[in-house]
Amino acid sequence: MGFYLTTAIDYVNSRPHLGTAYEKVTADVIARYHRMCGTPTWFVMGNDEHSQNVYQRAKERGLDPIAFCDEMEKVFRDAWAKLDISFDDFIRTTEDRHRAAVSTLVQRIADAGDLYEGEYEGWYCVSCEAFKQDKDLVDGCCPVHPTRKPDWIKEKNHFFRLSRYRDPLLAHYESHPEFLQPEVRRNEMLRLLEGGLEDISVSRTGQSWGIPLPFDPSSVVYVWFDALINYIAAVGYGTDDALFAKWWPAQVHIVGKDITRFHTVVWPAMLMSAGVELPTQVFGHGWVHWQGQKMSKSLGTSVDPLEAADRLGPDPLRLYLTKEIAFGQDGDFTWERFEEQYNVDLANNLGNLVNRVAVMAHKYRDGRLTSPEGTASALATRAEEVVGRYRVAMDEHRLHLGMALAFELVDATNEHIARTEPWTLARQPEQASALDRVLFDVAEAVRIAAVLLWPAMPSSCTEMLRRMGGDGPPTDVSVDAAWSEQARTLIKGAPLWPRIERPDPEPAEDASGPGPKGAERTMSNESDASAPQVPTGDEPPPAETPAPEPVDEGPRVSFDDFLKVELRVARVRAAEPIPKSKKLLKVTVDVDGVERTLVAGIARAYEPDALVGRSVVIVANLEKAKLMGVESNGMILAATDPDGNPVLLTVDDPEAAPSGARVR
Ligand code: MSP
Repeated sequence: MGFYLTTAIDYVNSRPHLGTAYEKVTADVIARYHRMCGTPTWFVMGNDEHSQNVYQRAKERGLDPIAFCDEMEKVFRDAWAKLDISFDDFIRTTEDRHRAAVSTLVQRIADAGDLYEGEYEGWYCVSCEAFKQDKDLVDGCCPVHPTRKPDWIKEKNHFFRLSRYRDPLLAHYESHPEFLQPEVRRNEMLRLLEGGLEDISVSRTGQSWGIPLPFDPSSVVYVWFDALINYIAAVGYGTDDALFAKWWPAQVHIVGKDITRFHTVVWPAMLMSAGVELPTQVFGHGWVHWQGQKMSKSLGTSVDPLEAADRLGPDPLRLYLTKEIAFGQDGDFTWERFEEQYNVDLANNLGNLVNRVAVMAHKYRDGRLTSPEGTASALATRAEEVVGRYRVAMDEHRLHLGMALAFELVDATNEHIARTEPWTLARQPEQASALDRVLFDVAEAVRIAAVLLWPAMPSSCTEMLRRMGGDGPPTDVSVDAAWSEQARTLIKGAPLWPRIERPDPEPAEDASGPGPKGAERTMSNESDASAPQVPTGDEPPPAETPAPEPVDEGPRVSFDDFLKVELRVARVRAAEPIPKSKKLLKVTVDVDGVERTLVAGIARAYEPDALVGRSVVIVANLEKAKLMGVESNGMILAATDPDGNPVLLTVDDPEAAPSGARVR
């Protein structure tokens, strides 16, 4: 079966920003992953052109709207090309195939008796292109567009009997739990449906910019009713039956959480009315934030994705967006974190490993690694296990977890090198075959890591695969084929991701605006900076700090500095005392499907068994530390009672804020 996926189509009144680019990048990662698994895939994106904002912007520029849209098509296509977005088709709502599909579908809805004439009087937010009720407004404005007052409109419209579809929609949600993901979005929509649905206005009068209603050419189709139809128009609805049969229904529509309602209430009701099969799934992703707010052109909080791609390269940007923001939740972008992540993950870790493996292969074996004797090491078993978990994560669109798993394999490979010490084996001629094995195993592990990361970093991973002796992009990551024992020749090369040096580390981020700041991407010899800095004191973590500080005194931290501390919800899986310690417990927690161990100074206040199953808050990006010989990867947050005992911070509603949820 094929895999047809789509993104939302963008309004073209302004250029793409990093928030809209985020959606396209993550959808591209999904598309590339499915192609890599050998599934026939069809990935469609496009532009939403019949909006009033587009019309107004064209008029401001003194252009015919279609000429303006043509210009903007190039702007969008250029941006997506720069970010390496591999769509198979790009649809514009002014194309003939789209007009044909709109006319056909709207006529079928009318034939089903689901359209009637009425009068609409109420608010309309032009930025959302949506009718609003008083209860939807905050201080008289739509909460997503607080800088622009909605218009009060009164006009004769055609209405769609949306109310008729409440029960069929609820039944569909019930029988198809996968229809709307992630779970938090599904719950929101279920609550909305349970509250009842009202009919909606689906035409506008007095406007020329839009698609005329087939049975009333004096009205145009409401822009959302028009835009949603792009998903079937792009695969031939009303124009190419064979194409439509080949790809429809879509496996997934990837859209932002602000427009989930249109996609999971209005769109399926339209399809039900017209007798067209529903898409299998709608995935409502979160927002990219800038300084705590939705990144948005109208809010003045947008970052130019092209500037970000120019700064460190499209692949590092794609990796940041995929790995650092849990797909389905909101996440932050700051230049500082982007650069930090680049240094940590790419320059210091992965880039360093690729280089080390190729250099060792050349130093000890002239680059040629023959199929080694004996069975593969534990690294092979680890790689297969990682690939298995990666596939589950990626199939469920847990993209951030998929990327984190690839880096687990990178870490395991680094550990394997440290444990086996190839440089020592190289000094012992009788260990020649053991050295062959190590060199081969680490090269193979790096190859697999490159395959797993390829959907997010296609061009750098293709280069990694070449350096590891492969030829071109991956076509298969099936678990069975994960580990290969084929001989290969490794290629050395310049660092894939030169480390960035900040000439002046002081003013890390200018809080006044979203432009890139003064970091220099320079070559550095400090590749050893990759070694994790592991403090080895036996002191318990700060959960035990007793004396409360006065709250209103002392220096303040900037919001950006605060965001550097990654607080996340974690679910306790297991806890046990640490021998010879009265204060410390070894606690295993789950953070969005990935287990980690922490050491917490809470033994005096909590029995280990009483912790299991609780949802706590942890600092997820604290440097690792060894406490009483146990490695602690993070810190559990606790308040301190007047006697100096820790009191854990727990989560009020662990279903609403599941393990991995960001806390701020
Ligand atoms: N044209 C409509 C969609 C019609 S789909 C039939 C629209 N366009 S948009 O240009 O405003 O947004 C396009 C997509 O980008 C939407 O899915 C929206 O949620 C997403 N994003 C816009 N800002 C965003 C962030 N700051 N972060 C993540 N996604 C964001 O809505």
